[in-house]
Amino acid sequence: GYFAPKDLPLQGKKVVVTAGPTRERIDPVRFLTNFSSGKMGYAMAEAAVKLGAQTTLISGPVGIDPPSGVQVVQVESAQDMFEAVIEHFDSASMVIKTAAVADYRPIEIHAQKMKKQSGESTIVLERTTDILAELGNRKTSQLLIGFAAETNDVVHYAKGKLVKKNADYIIANDVTEVGSGFGTDTNAVTLVGKNNIEMHFPYMTKKELALQLLQTIIHLENDVKK
Ligand code: CTP
Ligand code: CA
Repeated sequence: GYFAPKDLPLQGKKVVVTAGPTRERIDPVRFLTNFSSGKMGYAMAEAAVKLGAQTTLISGPVGIDPPSGVQVVQVESAQDMFEAVIEHFDSASMVIKTAAVADYRPIEIHAQKMKKQSGESTIVLERTTDILAELGNRKTSQLLIGFAAETNDVVHYAKGKLVKKNADYIIANDVTEVGSGFGTDTNAVTLVGKNNIEMHFPYMTKKELALQLLQTIIHLENDVKK
């Protein structure tokens, strides 16, 4: 349960937040990645600290300073992130998967730089582990919160991910909207959850949005448990 002092509702709870992109190596000088800046995840971690949580931030490579008061674990690939999350999962009350995890990685990491002279122009990919789905399989009492970056049918896809990954909430983001999504300091999202919960959060800074999202989720959970 989430019963704690009103201003510090996450006191005594461990919250794990993942943030940023992952990097999937091709060879010693190249990798596959995405446009995630890490800002939303870092804002989620900062909000968790503000609400009293013992916070672990598992971060892919980003160019921003971590908020004070969080334990930071730096990772590179989806596999690294998976292993770090699993390490912290049993002791966590809440896992917030803000990270934009690569869905595919090269099947082989070349030990030497690939040379154009070789004419090899195909990189064969394989799926990475779906971390959130794996947590959904393993969860005991942890609250699981995912994010979904979409370009169309945002709420529809988010609801699908909620069910498929056995998550408690999905925060859905239309990355094509101006002032929303990758790299910006602002965001607008829709929170979807069990019991047909669907709440829109208008444009605001990612920091303010993170706090409102966490407070709303805590409130919803306390209502459920009363
Ligand atoms: N996620 C994850 N591990 C992956 C891929 C995604 O944990 N290998 C998590 C993300 O951190 C996010 C949620 O799953 O919290 C949704 O990610 P998203 O990329 O939107 O969904 P996918 O299931 O990968 O579907 P698609 O990219 O095809 O829309
Ligand atoms: Ca994906």
